[in-house]
Amino acid sequence: MLIKSLSMKNFRVYEHAALRFGEQTNVLFGENGAGKTTVLEAIHCLAYTRSFKTHLDGELIRYETTEAKVGGNFSGDRKNDQRVEMFLSEKQPKHIKVNGALLSSQADLIGRIPLVCLAPEDGVVTSGAPADRRRFFDKLFSQVDSVYLQALQQFNRVLKQRNAQLNDYAVNGTPVNSELLRALDTQVAKHGAVVQEKRAEYLQKFKTFVYEIYQELEREKTFKAAYVPSVKPKAGETVEAAFQRELEASRPADMRRGTTTTGIQRDLFLFYLNHQEIRRYGSKGEHKLALVALKFAEGRLLEDYLTEKPIYLLDDLFAELDIKRSVQIIQSLPEGYQIFITSTDLADLRQHGMTLESEKLTVFDTGKLRDVAA
Ligand SMILES: Nc1ncnc2c1ncn2[C@@H]1O[C@H](COP(=O)(O)OP(=O)(O)OP(=O)(O)O)[C@@H](O)[C@H]1O
Ligand SMILES: [Mg+2]
Repeated sequence: MLIKSLSMKNFRVYEHAALRFGEQTNVLFGENGAGKTTVLEAIHCLAYTRSFKTHLDGELIRYETTEAKVGGNFSGDRKNDQRVEMFLSEKQPKHIKVNGALLSSQADLIGRIPLVCLAPEDGVVTSGAPADRRRFFDKLFSQVDSVYLQALQQFNRVLKQRNAQLNDYAVNGTPVNSELLRALDTQVAKHGAVVQEKRAEYLQKFKTFVYEIYQELEREKTFKAAYVPSVKPKAGETVEAAFQRELEASRPADMRRGTTTTGIQRDLFLFYLNHQEIRRYGSKGEHKLALVALKFAEGRLLEDYLTEKPIYLLDDLFAELDIKRSVQIIQSLPEGYQIFITSTDLADLRQHGMTLESEKLTVFDTGKLRDVAA
């Protein structure tokens, strides 16, 4: 997939801007605040309906204006060209158009434009709470498998109902409707089991990619990923049966605490470097390198299932990394893909081993992009 052109109107710092991108590496350079990350945010919005920096769409609208618009023309390896537009307004809900037709649900955009984004905000994937890692994998697996997305949504819906019952009992002493609770358990177990089985399956595939990529970036250390589900089936037991059994067993404790203590909302994804958990022991650079490997593996998995090459957005790629690792990353950048890289300084990119004279490169002086009428 390629994004050929982008237009922005009242999007953050841009009053008007229009850009045409190169098919391979696009470098956005400019001083702090020039608007580099904003260009990546705009592209991200067209693939995922939202920014990677904020979930508050209002923040994207230019100060002292009330409406913003972003539009992009995409060209697929297999799919036909498509034009995606996002409209933001303070007065009405956001809407998205694909080829001029309004999307009825924003979820319809999922999986249409494969895109991998690596930004400083993603640091939580390796350093944050277990929920941050679940979010990383949920987003990825949802794009490659709509059944995963549906099961996860159904699970969250019934879990919320179950928790509401439990909480009402724990806080207000409202007697629980055990028939309702039993019915909810069945649903929680059913959808939860689908998610759990698919998490195990997709992580297996993901591991083969990420191990290979990490090896390329850093030969001297071994990276490992593990999935530790909260629900543990006994020998010969299905995941769904185990789920049901654990929900029943934990019911008294769940009633006391007012929440569900077993299930996929408690699953762990763990990352190790030389058998030590990165989250606890990793240095800044080790975190970053692991994140780069995870993101490149995300791209490989997306491509494998969607049979479409993803676009890569790499914001502040070299922050935290030493020259040796940066050079290694430059050499391992996926080839034949459209990549966006931001930098405050071209000399800095050169120093990190990037050849800027190559004909494969398109360079933007970001500070000069503003007020170019679309
Ligand atoms: N809603 C908004 N309206 C107008 N300007 C905004 C809005 N939101 C952010 N800005 C400004 O837009 C500018 C560009 O931000 P951006 O994050 O794109 O810069 P950057 O080039 O990535 O900088 P850095 O090198 O520091 O990462 C900043 O000065 C920021 O304060
Ligand atoms: Mg930035």
